[in-house]
Amino acid sequence: MELQEVICKRKSIRAYTEQEIPAETITAILEAARLAPSWKNLQCWRWLILRQKKQRQALAEVLGDWNRKVISSAPVVVVLCADPAASGVMGDKQYYLVDAAIAMEHLVLAATAHGLGTCWVGAFDEEKVKNALHIPPEFRVVALSPLGYPAQEPPAQPRKPLAEIAFFDVWGKTQPE
Ligand SMILES: Cc1cc2nc3c(=O)[nH]c(=O)nc-3n(C[C@H](O)[C@H](O)[C@H](O)COP(=O)(O)O)c2cc1C
Repeated sequence: MELQEVICKRKSIRAYTEQEIPAETITAILEAARLAPSWKNLQCWRWLILRQKKQRQALAEVLGDWNRKVISSAPVVVVLCADPAASGVMGDKQYYLVDAAIAMEHLVLAATAHGLGTCWVGAFDEEKVKNALHIPPEFRVVALSPLGYPAQEPPAQPRKPLAEIAFFDVWGKTQPE
């Protein structure tokens, strides 16, 4: 699949089939995440891949109703953690979040290219998630995502037009000329 096709195909998937994901596919998408750029190449992220039902249930139990449903539907759940001390801060910008988000998008696009669905889940009680999964105290939990073969084809969600979000040379100038 061409990159643009993968980007257009990706949507948040919130219902999954029970089909198992081959181990080599999981390795391939983690490999894509591994190659992401990061602050000073410090690679502050850690991935916790929940394949066992017991682990996924332990996580689901500490989520709110909506995200519990999203997470519980998938055969695999990805937990993205990051160590802020292994990244940088500029002013009030904490780059561990940026590092982690880029790595997640690498993973998400690679998953899409393999026919898998994902959904960034950001609404959760971090302390509860850390306790449920025994994540070391120095790590932040940045995101969760279900991973599996889609059982739905949601419509594309609307995006703002380019003219509203991209300017050329001068702030507010929407035409390149
Ligand atoms: C930082 C972030 C947090 C999100 N948190 C949640 C969430 O907790 N639960 C959920 O169902 N979707 C969540 N989403 C998915 C967004 O709702 C979704 O990306 C957006 O509506 C656009 O839809 P699309 O991904 O299908 O294009 C999150 C997305 C991002 C980027």
